[in-house]
Parts: sequence; C-alpha cells; structure tokens
Amino acid sequence: MNGKKRAVITGIEGYVPDFILDNEMLSKMVDTTDEWIMTRIGVRERRILKEDGLGTSYMGAIAVQRLLEKTGTKPEEVDMVLCATVTPDMMFPATANIICDKTGIMNAWGFDINAGCSGFIFSFETAASFIESGRSKKMILVTGERMSAITDYSDRTTCPLFGDAAVAMLIEPTEDDGMGLLDSILHVDGVGRHYLFQKSGGSMYPSSVETVQNKEHFVYQDGQTVFKYAVSRMADVSVELMEKHDIKAEDIAYLIPHQANMRIIEATGKRMGLEKEKILINIERFGNTAGTSIPLVMWDFEKKFKKGDILIFSAFGAGFTWGSMYYKWAYDPK
Ligand code: UT7
Repeated sequence: MNGKKRAVITGIEGYVPDFILDNEMLSKMVDTTDEWIMTRIGVRERRILKEDGLGTSYMGAIAVQRLLEKTGTKPEEVDMVLCATVTPDMMFPATANIICDKTGIMNAWGFDINAGCSGFIFSFETAASFIESGRSKKMILVTGERMSAITDYSDRTTCPLFGDAAVAMLIEPTEDDGMGLLDSILHVDGVGRHYLFQKSGGSMYPSSVETVQNKEHFVYQDGQTVFKYAVSRMADVSVELMEKHDIKAEDIAYLIPHQANMRIIEATGKRMGLEKEKILINIERFGNTAGTSIPLVMWDFEKKFKKGDILIFSAFGAGFTWGSMYYKWAYDPK
C-alpha cells in the first residue's frame, strides 16, 4: 500500500442487440463479398438495434441495470454517470441523463463524452480524475453506440464496418498498491476532422431536405487515410507507453485494442512485440462498435483476467483522437 488513490473497474456488464447482420446478408445489399470483408477488415457479423424509437440509451440502460445487479449496487449509491458515445439519443439532453432516468439513478450527475472510437480511453481518463481527486466514489462509465443509425447501408466502403453495443463499468477508488489505471498517453489532432465525420445535423450544417438527400447524416470516412494514421499512431503511442514504464512484451497479459480493422490490430500487436495469444479480438463477431469496442472485449473476456494482470488499452478514432492506457486488472474471476 502506498496510499495513492487510483481508479479501478470493479464490475463490467454489457448488452448487444439480438439481430445479427452477417456478410452474406450484406452482400445482397451492396456489391461486396464475405471474402473481401474478412480479408480487408476481419468482420463476419455485427449486431444491429433494429427497432424504431430505440437509441443508445436503450442499450446503455440495460447494461447499467445488469451491472447494478451483478455488483449489488443500489442506483442511489452511484454519484456520477459518464457516457461515451458518438451516437447520442438526441443532440441534447445528454444520453447520460437519459440512462440515469431509465435506471433510477437519482443522486448522480454526469455528462456525455464525444471522442470517436477513443471514447472509452478518453472517458476512462476523465473518470479516473474524478476518482483520484475524491470527487467521485462510485461512478458508472457507460460506452454505447448505435452506429447503425448513422451508417449508409448503400455504401459498401463503410457499411461492413460498424455494429451496435453498450457496456457499463463500475469505477471506484482503490488504495490497493499498483492496481487500476496507472498511466495514459492521449492525443488529439484536428487534421482528422477532414477524413472521418458526420457532416450534418449539427450547428454548422443544420438538418434540411438537402442534407438528407445528400446523405450527410451518415458516417463519411476516407478509409485509406484513416487507416494510415491509425496504424502508425496506435502502434507509436503503445510503444511509447511501454518504453516510458519499461514494460516488456512478456510483462503484458493482454493488449485490448480498438476493434476497427484486423490489419490495424495485428500491426499494433507486432510493433509491441506481442504474441498473438496476448491480443484480444472480437471484431469478427461484433465489428467496429466505436468507443464501445474496448469495453466490449473486456466484457467478453472478463473471465480470463486475474488480479494484477497488465492490460494495455489502445485506440484511434475520429477527431483524430488516439492513445494508450496502462491498466492493472484488480480482481480475480468471480
Ligand atoms: O474506428 C475508427 C477508425 N477507423 C478505422 O480505423 C478504419 C480505417 N480504414 C480501414 O479499415 C480501411 O481503409 C477500410 C476497411 C475502410 C477499407 O479497406 P482498404 O483496404 O483501405 O480498401 P480501399 O478503400 O483502398 O479499397 C480497395 C478496393 C477499391 O476498389 P478499386 O478502386 O481498387 O477498384 C474499393 O472500391 O476495394 C473496393 N471496396 C470494396 N470491395 C468489395 C471497398 N469496399 C469494398 C467492399 N467490398 N465492401
């Protein structure tokens, strides 16, 4: 014990919609093949929230309810709720508020964080600041995306990528020596705003008949440029974090990378000198769920983790935003 308070994840739960959109179905919607998608991206299927009138808060609230039950937490004990999303239910109010309302969390405050596919690492860093300062003692961090709401299913260059999901994590302080979030290196570079964005619906280009006709409410991505930035930035920042803390590849239990593209994941793992078994991947089953992808992997593989395991989180996304986190898992499988 050294008395320094750190933020730890003390529970994790998630929700994915039942509906599965696989590559065979996609190949009937656009000119593509399972082979192209598997070799260029690595996604076989993704979950889609199909029902009208349901948004990110629907999935996020289910994840939160499951988390409260799993951890034996009463809604009134929660003092903060952060929600990382690029697909909020509405422009305002914040989806964090809506989730609080749906889950009976009445004694908390919170807000949404928009950091593209880096949503988890940016919001976890924010969460940690509140926990370390003592301002929050029991926080829920929700990452949720209904990417299908902003995906153009007639555009073969983007529609194979994305899926929907939400994950909720309980974040608490610990003084257990060395556990929790130990360090982060995070970056933004506004050059990215030209290559990955949803153009309309905000204050610069308010919604109009034209913006809808021009398909400006969907994700626009210059895939090749984003790919080049993602490969170099994710690998560079992860290696920088390892060097800063003298972490060797063999010290790392698992790398949990953002699940955008198998080729980006493999390139990052290779630069870090990691064996394949140490890189956790579920892109094949869920696609790119933006800021939710790292928590979705954590939830998926939770039973693998032992107390003291070194996990490296690494992400890259719209903005551009990117970064890497050095985290020590704080509990054994339950
Ligand atoms: O999560 C946030 C960050 N996002 C990312 O990290 C995504 C980064 N980008 C990527 O993952 C890749 O750029 C994509 C997966 C989006 C695209 O892969 P690519 O290897 O960069 O393909 P490309 O755009 O260079 O296209 C190669 C060819 C083109 O045909 P021509 O011009 O060579 O004839 C495309 O038209 O592949 C064609 N193509 C497709 N063919 C079959 C593009 N999409 C498809 C498709 N099926 N779905």
